[in-house]
Order: sequence, then structure tokens, then C-alpha cells
Amino acid sequence: MTLKRTVRFEPLGITIECEATEPILHYALRQGLRLVDTRCAEGDCGGCKAMVHSGQIHRVEQPRPILSAAEQAQGHVLLCRTHVKSDLVVELLPGSLLTPSQRPDPFDRHHAAEKLLGPFIVAAADHLSDGLLVLDDQGRLLVLNRAAAHLLHGDPSQEITAVCRTILESALPQTYQITCAPNGRVLAAIGFPVMKGHHAVASALLFP
Ligand code: FES
Repeated sequence: MTLKRTVRFEPLGITIECEATEPILHYALRQGLRLVDTRCAEGDCGGCKAMVHSGQIHRVEQPRPILSAAEQAQGHVLLCRTHVKSDLVVELLPGSLLTPSQRPDPFDRHHAAEKLLGPFIVAAADHLSDGLLVLDDQGRLLVLNRAAAHLLHGDPSQEITAVCRTILESALPQTYQITCAPNGRVLAAIGFPVMKGHHAVASALLFP
């Protein structure tokens, strides 16, 4: 069994649980916490810069030198390239930290997903080995399970929003090829509408 560690984000005072298997950013996004200006989730934009105040980490090599050796020595990290090795206290830095109005409310999202899909399905989604994401009819993310977060690096692209709109309009299951920004990987997905009575109220993408 993988050991769970806690990460406390300051100055927000928000604590999440993480395991050592994926970057901290993935765990935050999966819990609906888009706290920093993440634009790539690949160590390429610098939008998830933060400072580790206490605890042990494992760094994954940056694709290009966003953080200098001096910054790393001071404790600066990219949350999308950092895994936990112990409980951590991490400061989200001005320039990366989103303002309250830029941050979606994770509780709203969770309640909306449960209302639409039922609590059992929402709870079970994270244990599905296929990637699953569900967007509501406004294009808001309701469900992003662990497998989908891994495939998409935690952050659904604009293309996925566009595909989900197509699914809503066609209201029929279809296969899609999704190009994964920014690395250009192409993923096959089955898109299908989530029906309430005769109405499609959300779109789901399954990445088998
Ligand atoms: S989200 Fe771009 S560097 Fe981490």
C-alpha cells in the first residue's frame, strides 16, 4: 500500500493528501484545486512555481531550465515536477498563485458531479483503470479520475472542451482522437452524453 503524505499550501492553509507516485500538482487538480497558474503541467511554463518550507521532496528533471540551480537550492520547485517524500509545507508564490476569483470552487464541482451522476459513480470513478472525465453542459469539469489526470497531466485542454460540446450536440457515443497539448500525443477516446431523461446534460470522455 502506498503511503499518503500531506501537503499544506500556504498562504491558503489548504491541506491535501498525496502519494509519492505522481507530482503534487496532479493530486491538487484531481481534488478540484486549481490554485496556481498551471499552463502545461510538464515543467515548461513556470506557472506552478512554489517554495518548499519544510519536508522532503523528489524532483523530476525539468525539460528546460525554468528554475536555476540557485533557486532550487533555496527550495523553489515546480509542483508539476515534484513528488512528496514526507509531509510538506509549501508556499504558493505571487505570480503563480491565482486570485480567489480565478480559482474554481472544488466543492461546487463535487456537488454538481454528484447531483448529475450520483455519489456512487463519482466515488467509483477514481478507481476506474480507464481514464474518465466529465464536463457539464457549460464546459465545466465535473470529474477527472486518476487515470485521466495521468494521461492528460491533470489539466484538460481547450480541445477537450470543444469535443465535449460536440458530444452534447450529437448526443451519440462516438470515437475521437484527442491531441494532448503541449506534447502532441494523440489519444483515442470514446465520447458519450450523460443523459437525464431525454436530455444530454453532460459529456463524458473515456480513454480506454
Ligand atoms: S504547470 Fe507549467 S511548469 Fe508546472
